[in-house]
Order: sequence, then structure tokens, then C-alpha cells
Amino acid sequence: MSSILIKNGVVINASGRARQDVLIEGDKIAAVGQSLTAPGAEMLDAEGCFVLPGFIDTHTHFGLEVGGAITADNFASGSKAAALGGTTCVLDFATQAPGGSLQQALQNWHAQAQGASCNYGFHMAIAHWDEDVRQELPTMVEQGVTSFKMYMVYDGLKVDDGQIYSALQETAKLDTLVGVHCENWEVLLRRIREVQLSGITGPEGHPLSRPNAVEAEAVARLMRIAELAQAPCYVVHLSTAEGLEEALRARARGQKVFLETCPQYLLLTDARYGDADGAKFVMSPPLRKAVDTEALWQALQSGQINTIGTDHCSFTMAQKNKFVQDFSKIPNGAAGVQHRGQLLYTYGVCEGRITLEQMVALLSANAAKLFGMPDYGEIAPGKAADVVIWDPAYEGCITDTNTAHNCDNSPYAGFIVKGRAKDVLLHGELAVQGGSFKQAGLGKYIHRSRCDFD
Ligand code: URP
Ligand code: ZN
Repeated sequence: MSSILIKNGVVINASGRARQDVLIEGDKIAAVGQSLTAPGAEMLDAEGCFVLPGFIDTHTHFGLEVGGAITADNFASGSKAAALGGTTCVLDFATQAPGGSLQQALQNWHAQAQGASCNYGFHMAIAHWDEDVRQELPTMVEQGVTSFKMYMVYDGLKVDDGQIYSALQETAKLDTLVGVHCENWEVLLRRIREVQLSGITGPEGHPLSRPNAVEAEAVARLMRIAELAQAPCYVVHLSTAEGLEEALRARARGQKVFLETCPQYLLLTDARYGDADGAKFVMSPPLRKAVDTEALWQALQSGQINTIGTDHCSFTMAQKNKFVQDFSKIPNGAAGVQHRGQLLYTYGVCEGRITLEQMVALLSANAAKLFGMPDYGEIAPGKAADVVIWDPAYEGCITDTNTAHNCDNSPYAGFIVKGRAKDVLLHGELAVQGGSFKQAGLGKYIHRSRCDFD
């Protein structure tokens, strides 16, 4: 069994920090303590660095087809970009095909993920709900899929309120969770028409068609549906102050509500739709105003938001600009899987908005607990050796082209970033060393257990 001894670093967990060494034996953390020795072990010097549990990205779309366009990143490229950024596990959305079963979707995603360079698990996106799907839920759980997604939007994916209600009832019985994409589809379709009729057809029309209330109404509706179903629920990619308020109201009523936001809703605003490359920022929900980003930062600080996922759903500028004259057809989504850690460190920790411990909670520990990964999210004896050695001294700038993903653009191009994942271990093996890939293809499927809502 191979051993690695990480010396001289500061271990950061969600619960606190200490200058400690970390001994890894095989694929597990064997010991954490001061002045550890391990004759024969490979030594990694973490002097001046933080030793963090590997990051978990709760929201990626690798190899997703949207309206005939396939994302620029598949598992091969997306998982490499993830690992370079310190993300040791992605939870990607396996998506039920029209008329297809959940089992077929799961097999399809397993096949796509073969050879991935970071670990991975799957949420199952349920595109239609019926008795057959209901009967498939326990077999999903047996196969390690313990969370689901339902969309209130998109042709071919949208489910209705009754279907969400039934799915919430059934998934709650299995201690599993449904994440919901909350926007009011009927209203936004009509608003798209209104915006177009007013003569606005370019990317700047996108946020006008989906103002904050489009999300907030849908969040409020989900909260009441979950209340009726007596089920916990999860809001994916929360983007507005008003949506946050609705979720907090439900929590105040005693409901179990879990919230995810994304770096783009913390760091970018709808002013970007006026840029020459405004199509790049077309994603749903759209970018918002500074008042929303501020509300989300405060919610992170106070622990009201549980997780940060990237919603990595990358399209090339050619794919996007093809429809630049009709914002309603621009493929929705943006790249981000590589930069979540750097962005949260730079604009969260270094700017004094959150602590390093909170960063670990948001990037790793909370997701591990909620999504049934008890062996992950903490540097402690017995835990999986998915570890990031984070070098805070690094400084760089994200550009459209200096990224590892397979997309020719980044919504964060021009952002200065501090810190980087210097070394990344995946189940005890060095995948990234000195900021470069050492071994690709080390990713493994994470068979998740039931969700922990406490
Ligand atoms: O615009 C986005 N977010 N595209 C990805 C699919 C989704 O809505 O999560
Ligand atoms: Zn998404």
C-alpha cells in the first residue's frame, strides 16, 4: 500500500484549523497530527499552504445536449478542468431522455464518465414523472443515486407542479432529495415574446424576459409544494434576493430547505449582457443586480446558503453567437468548473466576506453531508484521501483561453485570482502536482448513501 505524508501545512476543516501533518495510506487518511513520521512514505511539503478536503461541485452538466447543441465539455475535458481547480468530485446531472427510463439514463452517464479525471456521482434529472419512474426510485438509491432534479422550465424537461409534489413525496420516503430549477416557464415564455416585440432581440433581452420575480414566484411555489408533500427540498442555482427570502420564509415555518448558489450569481451582474460578447453570459437564471449578489454573499456569510455549484454547462462562442440576434435561442449555460475554488478564495476569503472554514463548508463539507458522502468533506482519520494542497501565494488572471476546459470562453475572463490547487490527491493518488496534471483518468464513481438532512 502506498503512503504519502503531507508535512508542514495548515489543515482547514469546516470545524476549524490547525497546523498538522496528514498521513495517507492507500486511499484513506490514516492520521492527522503534529510531527508525524512515516518511513518510506512519499513526502509532500505543504509549507505555506492549506490542506483542504477535496472540493465537491454539486452542479455540472458534462456532455449535455440542449436544443441540438452539445456542451463543449464532456466528462474527459470537464473532469480534468475540475481536478486542476481542486474539485475532486463532481455531481453531474444524468438526464432522463424523452420516453426513456432512469436506468437507461444512468447507464448512459456511467458510460460517458468512464475514464474521468475526477471522482463523480450523479443526480438523476427526472424529465417526466409516472408510475414507472416512481418504481425506479429504490433501484436508483441501491445504485448510489440519492438525489434528483426536476425542471420547472425547458421543453422536454419541464414537469408540472403535481409531478413535483408526487416526486417530493416519494423521494422523501427514501431519504433522498429533489433539487428544483425554479423559474415560471409560462410567464417567461410570454415575457420573451413581449421583449422581442419591443424590438430587443440580443442578449440584453435575456434578463428582461426573466426578472427576479420569475425565480421568486417559482421558489415560493416550490416551498409550498414541499410543505404539502412534507418533504425536504433543494433549490439549485439560487440567483435572487427575493428567491432567498421565499426560501428563508419556508425555513422559518420549519421546513427543511437547502440552497445552492453559483459563483456567477455572486460575481457577475446583468450589466454583462451589454458587452460585445454578451451571448457568453446567457444562462438561466440570468445574471442579476448588485443588490442580489450582495444578498447572496450575506447569506453565505450567515450560513443560510448550503452549497456552491458551478452549473458548468459550456458552449463555444460560435454555438452562442449563432443565435445572437435571438436571445431566446442562445444555448443556456457557461463554463466554471475549474475556477470555483479560486473565485471563492479570492472574492470570499481574501476580501474578508467568509472564513477559510466557511469556504471548506461551502465547497466540500456541506455537500458531502447533504448528498450522502460521509467519507468525504473532511481531513480526518478514516476519511477518503481526496485532498487539496492549496497555495495561497499564487496570483493569476483568468482569460478566455488559459483554461483547461474545452470551451473557448469563460464568463470570468479578466478576473484576477489568488491561490490555486497546487497538489490534488484523488483517493490517495496524486492527480495534480505543482498545478499541472500528473495522472489523468483516476476518477471513480462515488456510490452515495442517503441524504443527511440534519
Ligand atoms: O443556463 C443554464 N443554467 N444551463 C444549464 C441547465 C440548467 O438550467 O441548469
Ligand atoms: Zn444546471
